[in-house]
Amino acid sequence: MCGIVGYIGGKNTKEILLNGLKELEYRGYDSAGIAILSEGSFNSFKAVGKLVNLEEKIKDFTTEKFAVGIGHTRWATHGKPTELNAHPHLGESSYVVHNGIIENYAALKKELVDEGVTFLSQTDTEVIVHLFEKNLKSATDVFAAFRQTITQLEGAYAILLATKSKPDTIFFAKQGSPLLVGINAEDEKYFASSDTPLIGQCESVNYFEDGDFGYVTPSEIVIYGTNGKQKQPHLSKLATNKLSAQKDGYRFFMEKEIYEQSDVITDTLLGRLSEDAVVFEELSDDLFDGVNEIKLCACGTSYHAALSASYLFERYSKVRCCVEIASEFRYREPIMNKDTLFIVISQSGETADTLETLKMAKNAGLKTLAICNVDNSSMVRLADATILTRAGVEKGVASTKAFATQVTIFWMLSLHVAKLRNTLKPQEITKQIELIRQIPASVKVDDAMHERIKRLSKRYLHGHGFFFIGRDIFFPLALEGALKLKEISYLHAEGYPSGEMKHGPIALADPELFTIALLPQNLLYEKSKSNVEELSARDSTICAISPLAFEKADDFIQTKGYDHYMLEFFEMMVVVQLLSLEVSIRLGNDVDMPRNLAKSVTVE
Ligand code: G6P
Repeated sequence: MCGIVGYIGGKNTKEILLNGLKELEYRGYDSAGIAILSEGSFNSFKAVGKLVNLEEKIKDFTTEKFAVGIGHTRWATHGKPTELNAHPHLGESSYVVHNGIIENYAALKKELVDEGVTFLSQTDTEVIVHLFEKNLKSATDVFAAFRQTITQLEGAYAILLATKSKPDTIFFAKQGSPLLVGINAEDEKYFASSDTPLIGQCESVNYFEDGDFGYVTPSEIVIYGTNGKQKQPHLSKLATNKLSAQKDGYRFFMEKEIYEQSDVITDTLLGRLSEDAVVFEELSDDLFDGVNEIKLCACGTSYHAALSASYLFERYSKVRCCVEIASEFRYREPIMNKDTLFIVISQSGETADTLETLKMAKNAGLKTLAICNVDNSSMVRLADATILTRAGVEKGVASTKAFATQVTIFWMLSLHVAKLRNTLKPQEITKQIELIRQIPASVKVDDAMHERIKRLSKRYLHGHGFFFIGRDIFFPLALEGALKLKEISYLHAEGYPSGEMKHGPIALADPELFTIALLPQNLLYEKSKSNVEELSARDSTICAISPLAFEKADDFIQTKGYDHYMLEFFEMMVVVQLLSLEVSIRLGNDVDMPRNLAKSVTVE
């Protein structure tokens, strides 16, 4: 994820950068660093771990004169969290900070190394500064060298670069990672990955768009767009209230977090996909040796991610899988065999029941793996291995983006194991990796779709119950859809396997029973459709979610449709999240803090 900040002005640059980084620390805290250019020379400091380590290291350093400063807080993707790999990265006389991933860095690095450049770090970022300095030697001016550098980069980035060749300037570029610049009446300029660090410092901000690059000095903001033409900054007023600013204009954190899913999944994927393999640097090669069964254990939404995982592990990795609700598992004297890999899934890493099952598995001598969103949480510290989901801070009690990243990890992990065990053909793995790269696009909220759901939601504010139904992996999604709705709307909702409705629940069918039917085109479409028809024949009110028109439905939410059922899964996930959100808003509930619930349940 990483967070970046920048400052041009005459105040206490060190404090300004550190305060900015504090607001962004949730984006990563493997290491942090700053570089300050003042009176012609650079001072740079880095420290491994949380920001307090950097603060402590530079407590005696002061800056009072005019300066240009850049800072970074890192979530490691390329290279371990060491001081050498911490940003800012130095060339001969320039420093760079970067959030994202330079996908062609290996080729660029090879070229530079062949030309005699020495690299200090294992990061992809360091190529940017060396490439810039190489271009500087032949370019007409400093900006031309920067511009040339940007055209040579492929991948996702938000970049800030400071150089002695232009000591009052910060060069920037944005592609796929967030970046903005803020201004105030004192001609100071602030950069950051999100607007919260700028609150109280700036009056207005320009949010850069993908493809923007340019430079900022004390007196000007020069922006070029994707077409290579200069464009005017588009300044908007900055909120003065931190909480509402953190919501970025969305009504609730949950809504913001639904919209953020595309970006956070991009982060989840960063550095973990090559053309033909899924790469989890954090896992040792022998983790899956001798494993004959995977047990997944979790609570709430994370339990639904675990259930989804079981379909993928059995289908692709051909490993026997069982899924457990943590509060049940604890007391039922479960059989634990040493050939079982025990996986806990938790957004917070602190849920008491899940944590306890992890302890039980460890005591029984099982190999353990945590899929978690919070580094250094209790589960991360206890498990033998961890994969971080990189969803960023999730504030809404009803989990959305954490679930999305958990399922993303599981799809990747099932392919990783499939490759280790040879259970899928290499071409199939390559094909699915290509599909995984499309997840961020599949979860992008379509404005027209959101509007439609907003309108439809008024029909679903009452009734005696909701059944979310789906087959196969769409059954856990149905469970998750129902959980979202009941958590924030307080309406009774259940998730059910479509094929099971006729074994009891269909007795409830009448016009006041709402069926939310998940009908993907690429998985058991005809069978699921028959199940919905059975309900429609009994006059249940049906809302069908499908790319294919369904004439028996009362309401129809048409998805775009993809060639693979997993991309349909992600697309429909967004639909059920938005439906719950809009119903809850119409009912006047507190979406982010629903009654009786808590974000992290640390009691059993
Ligand atoms: C609470 C939250 C749920 C969450 C569950 C598990 O019940 O309200 O949103 O899914 O805990 O939390 P975890 O942090 O372990 O994923």
